[in-house]
Parts: sequence; structure tokens; C-alpha cells
Amino acid sequence: MGYPQIRPRRLRRTAAVRRLVEETRLAPAELVLPMFVREGLTEPRPVASLPGVFQHGRDSLRKAAAEAVAAGVGGIMLFGVPARRDATGSGGVDPDGVLNVAIRDVVAEVGDATVVMSDLCLDEFTSHGHCGLLADDGTVDNDATLAAYARLAVAQAEAGADMLGPSGMMDGQVGVVRRALDAAGHTDTALLAYAVKYASAFYGPFRDAVESALVGDRRTYQQDPANLRESLREVELDVAEGADLVMVKPALPYLDVLAAVRQLVQVPVAAYQVSGEYAMVEAAAANGWIDRERVIMETLTSIRRAGAQIILTYWAVEAAHALRR
Ligand code: PBG
Repeated sequence: MGYPQIRPRRLRRTAAVRRLVEETRLAPAELVLPMFVREGLTEPRPVASLPGVFQHGRDSLRKAAAEAVAAGVGGIMLFGVPARRDATGSGGVDPDGVLNVAIRDVVAEVGDATVVMSDLCLDEFTSHGHCGLLADDGTVDNDATLAAYARLAVAQAEAGADMLGPSGMMDGQVGVVRRALDAAGHTDTALLAYAVKYASAFYGPFRDAVESALVGDRRTYQQDPANLRESLREVELDVAEGADLVMVKPALPYLDVLAAVRQLVQVPVAAYQVSGEYAMVEAAAANGWIDRERVIMETLTSIRRAGAQIILTYWAVEAAHALRR
């Protein structure tokens, strides 16, 4: 008779058995909340394409950061939206610029209770919206940009950030930033390198959140979604240049990349569940087409299972609360 003796269903029979054999478990401390602060705002302003996400003013940022810490999140990643932009992104290095002020505010509010991270890039500060400085012919000038990133890094470290996230995909950015930080005495400021960053259409809603000025795309510096080996090369370079952690971005459409990166290196691996990933779930849930809470936890679990030890997600606070229940 063909009855099976081996029955995988035995380990799925009750919630207790399922819990016992569960291979992947999420914890609030692995979740990082990206937050937006906009210069001159006195009230939080909703981001239309990211329901539940706000641009903060200084006061509401501090309050929301304290709430995130109370929920137990592992970190906060700050993005600044300046009132004025220029060709060189000078607002990024200004100690009174929106992001540097926000770093100081959040550090003053939460201290060492969480890890305060800042996005190290020029796109929020430039009038053209590119992540780097433009050469006369309109192309993004890699090496001129590196010098600008070095100054940005020192400004953010001086403001008190624990960890900087170089996200501009310029060649050599991690090494240049590391040397600049060390030379300025910031040897303990860590680098979470956006080592793998695809030229993705999933960043659409983020560009609303930072009121991006970009025309065109970033395909001359961000990666082609078709490529995997190229990502491994990027990761190896960033680790050699001194990255303390590496990140893969976006997350869910690139789980194969995440798994390969996890196999390749020993440093902690993070993934960024980006704005478009969030917006798709929120939009489908708003239509009643999916079970919102279950889908959120399923996406986070999948990203974790594929190899991310840390996940940046706009659901960090909500998921942290859900995990504690
Ligand atoms: C660059 C940056 C971007 C995101 C994070 N850092 C935008 C881009 O590369 O166009 C996107 C994050 C998201 O979509 O949630 N400063």
C-alpha cells in the first residue's frame, strides 16, 4: 500500500509544533525605520504615495523617533528635504542644513537607545536631483562627487550620527568616506554601505517623499536589474574599502541577490524594503485585495529568510509592535 510513512505535515499540525520548528524569526531590533524631515515644517505632512509615512518637522521628528525607540526598533535612518537646493548640494554640508540639524535633534532625543543613521548622498540637496555633481557635459562626475561625499560624511559624523549610509553608487565612495572620517578623528563612525543598489522603478514614491528634482534616471551609476554577478563585485569592493555592513536594495524583487551576498561576506547584511514595495502592499490592502498585516509579515520574513539580518522598512514601528504581541 502506498501510504506515506514520512509525513512533513506532522510538523505543521498545531501552532505549538509550528512554532517549535520555525526556522526564521523576526525581532524588533533587526528593523530600521527610514524617516523624512523637511525644512520649515511645523506639522507632519503625509506623503500621498506612502500612506502612513510623513515628512516631519523638527518637533514631530523627535517625537516619532522616541516612539520608534519605545517600540524597540534597531535603528533610524534619516533623510533630509531642504527648502532650497543648488547645483552642488551645499545644504548637505551646512551644519545648519536640515539633515545635520535632524541628526543632532534625534541624537539629543534618543541618545544611545537606538542606532542613528543618516543617508549620505547628494540627491536630496541638488537642484538637478542627481546623486553626484555634474560635469560640464551633464554626466555625473564620479571623482568630484567623492570629494563632496567626504565633506558630507564629516558633517554628519560631527552632527553625531552613529552610522552613515553612502547611497550614491559612486565608485570608491566607501574608501574615500572612510579615510575622510578617520582623518577627522571619527574612527568610530560606522558605514552601512548601499553596496548593491539597482536602478529601480520601485523608488518612485520615495522621490515624492523627498520632492526629488530628478529628470531622467540614474542608470549610469545604479545597477542594471538584470545583473547578479555585478552585485557580488560591488559588495567585495565595499568590504575591501571598509564597509562595516552592506546593504541590498530593493529587497523583495532581489532575494536571490540577497542570498548570494549573504554567502559571500561575513559582515552583517541589510536589505532595504523600499518605498514602491511598501506602496504596492498598502494600495492592494486599501482595495481589500490582500490581508495587509499578514502580507507585511510575510514580506519581512521572506527578506530575513533570504539572508538579511537587518531590514530597513517603513513598517518598522508597526511590525515591532506586532512582534511584541
Ligand atoms: C538616495 C536614496 C534613494 C532611496 C534611498 N536613498 C533614492 C534613489 O536612489 O533614487 C530610495 C528609498 C526608497 O525608495 O524607499 N538618496
